[in-house]
Amino acid sequence: MSTSKPVVVYGASGYTGRLICEYLREFNLPFVAAGRDADRVQSVMDSLPGIETADYEVAGVEHTAAALTELFDGAKVVCNTVGPFADLGGEVVEACLASGCHYVDTTGEQNWILSSREDFGERFAEAGLLLSAGIAQMYTSGEIAANICLETQGVDTLDILVLWKGAPTTASTETIFTNLLSEAYFLEQNAYVAWPPPQGYEVSVPGQHATALTLPWGGTSHPAWFKDDPRVANVKVLGGVFDRALMEGVVQIAQMVEEKIKPLPADQQGPALAEVAATMKADMPPRENQRVNTSIDSVYATGPLGNVHCVLRGASNYKQTGLLQAYAARCLTLGVTRAVGFGSACQAFGHRELLGVLQSFGLSGKPAVTSSSV
Ligand SMILES: NC(=O)c1ccc[n+]([C@@H]2O[C@H](COP(=O)([O-])OP(=O)(O)OC[C@H]3O[C@@H](n4cnc5c(N)ncnc54)[C@H](OP(=O)(O)O)[C@@H]3O)[C@@H](O)[C@H]2O)c1
Repeated sequence: MSTSKPVVVYGASGYTGRLICEYLREFNLPFVAAGRDADRVQSVMDSLPGIETADYEVAGVEHTAAALTELFDGAKVVCNTVGPFADLGGEVVEACLASGCHYVDTTGEQNWILSSREDFGERFAEAGLLLSAGIAQMYTSGEIAANICLETQGVDTLDILVLWKGAPTTASTETIFTNLLSEAYFLEQNAYVAWPPPQGYEVSVPGQHATALTLPWGGTSHPAWFKDDPRVANVKVLGGVFDRALMEGVVQIAQMVEEKIKPLPADQQGPALAEVAATMKADMPPRENQRVNTSIDSVYATGPLGNVHCVLRGASNYKQTGLLQAYAARCLTLGVTRAVGFGSACQAFGHRELLGVLQSFGLSGKPAVTSSSV
């Protein structure tokens, strides 16, 4: 089977997948809404207001590289939202390579970004295709803010804070758990350095008196994206959700995993973690509310002789993710990308362009930038 639609959204039944479909409609981009259960995908699509004006078809597909390759044949871009990606992403990337499609996903998993780059980056570059894991609010908005800071010459150290207000979806919660088993890295003089055993970090948040409790959140994507950036030497990121009680719970679970699960033999760690995760299954969150679901990315960039601070406020972070994915698909179907092989959203599409798209849909504010002279 070959499709005439240029874009495939894999995981279209999920919270984020359906938002990508909505924004593809706004860009007039025909797409295949795909998932493991065609009926579930169809009933989700039937519930999307206005989707009848989109040019789309629904497809059910088995989660194997062979079946996915067949589905992707004829398409140009695959937007993958089936996470946790460290567990489920490999087959989708293989299938993109086999069918000649660009690959973009919504991950925030550092271990997946590192392994997908290592395992597939060169082959995508040879094929002239983009492999971009992590086109999503966490952490593209922080990447935009960091790049705004880097417009000032002479800064080389990025201290990044990423916070959002809302409830994680089912797969987001699973992803938070799988992240706990992997090593988290920051960047020091362009080398990866492991974070110490998990603990909460109290941070000040621009625009409010109360502090927030954060974690390295699996290391985040930024160390991987900036590792080979000649302007940058050091990157450290802290983040999480604004909900303090939820963060206290995550810190406790992270410490329990460190003490009780990580010492287990490798084959017992996953099942032991799954038992804990099963007690915390998340329901599908309500549709986002612009006045409730806010995000903030704050980046201090420093150099020996000065500093820059950029604060980027946003709303509806899952919608931001849906929009960023749809815009990436639009660029790629038009053949507009500055990167092939492994590349971040900003490297492929430009940070000012991505900011403009988020602003034009009312999902991102004007960056507040202050600096001392460098
Ligand atoms: N970094 C960010 O800012 C950001 C933002 C949004 C999402 N994400 C990430 O993106 C991923 C998806 O998030 P979401 O909010 O869309 O979650 P979700 O609502 O739980 O949706 C998950 C999707 O994956 C599918 N799926 C799950 N397990 C599968 C399997 N074994 N085989 C095939 N399909 C499977 C589900 O299909 P069924 O409906 O058939 O179960 C569903 O379509 C998560 O990993 C999340 O962390 C990150």
